[in-house]
Amino acid sequence: MREISQAVIGRLPRYYRYLGDLQQEGIERVSSRELSHIMGVTASQIRQDFNNFGGFGQQGYGYNVDHLHTEIGRILGVDHEHSMVLIGAGNLGQALVKYMNSRRDRGFYFKAAFDISPKLQGKSIGEDEVPIYAMDNLAGYIDSAGIDIAVLTIPKTAALDIVEVLEGTQIKAIWNFAHLDLKVPERIQVENVHLQDSLMKLTYSIGEYEKRQETEQSTAKKSRRK
Ligand code: NAI
Repeated sequence: MREISQAVIGRLPRYYRYLGDLQQEGIERVSSRELSHIMGVTASQIRQDFNNFGGFGQQGYGYNVDHLHTEIGRILGVDHEHSMVLIGAGNLGQALVKYMNSRRDRGFYFKAAFDISPKLQGKSIGEDEVPIYAMDNLAGYIDSAGIDIAVLTIPKTAALDIVEVLEGTQIKAIWNFAHLDLKVPERIQVENVHLQDSLMKLTYSIGEYEKRQETEQSTAKKSRRK
């Protein structure tokens, strides 16, 4: 398969989410025009994106929703469950475990959590009682339990030491919430998540909107004066 651009890959989770909603509503077929209307992107963008993967067999009226959802899920690698461990069982970490494990059908599941605090070790998180272990068990647990993804919700200062430990395991990926961009060997995939970046895009948009409004108002004032 030819190399797919990051922009296209970045849009796939959104397609997957919308198709999941359509599936839940019992909708069996959807045209690119309808999908474009629901998602606020052009129909030609959707067709171009899907053509990267052979077009997903649009025949007659639109796409088969189940098929498209399954295929995009397969491309995204969420057609099978990924086992995860949490490192840092504080506020953010515990919230993630509870949220993700309550939606196990989405392809991700926390099997265990690890924390440096003796107060947390021996306790568990959420309804399915995900155990919180001491850090010295981390590497052994990852390899024996076949963990794919480590989720870091620890302070930035602790992250580099932990990444060194992870590099010695068979971990495949790190979902990193610590406030630094991690650099790791090529065999480990990393997604650095910075919620603040998303908020800053929002505040930028507020500023841009307000500037547009001011310009429009002053243009309207000038034309009234004429
Ligand atoms: P928290 O203080 O509630 O939890 C941090 C947990 O990490 C604690 O349970 C602590 O015992 C544990 N910990 C500290 N050092 C450790 C180590 N060396 N090994 C294992 N566990 C260790 O903090 P909260 O609110 O859960 O945030 C966690 C981290 O995520 C913070 O550093 C925060 O700055 C960051 N954060 C990042 C966000 C993002 O968008 N990237 C959003 C929110 C928080």
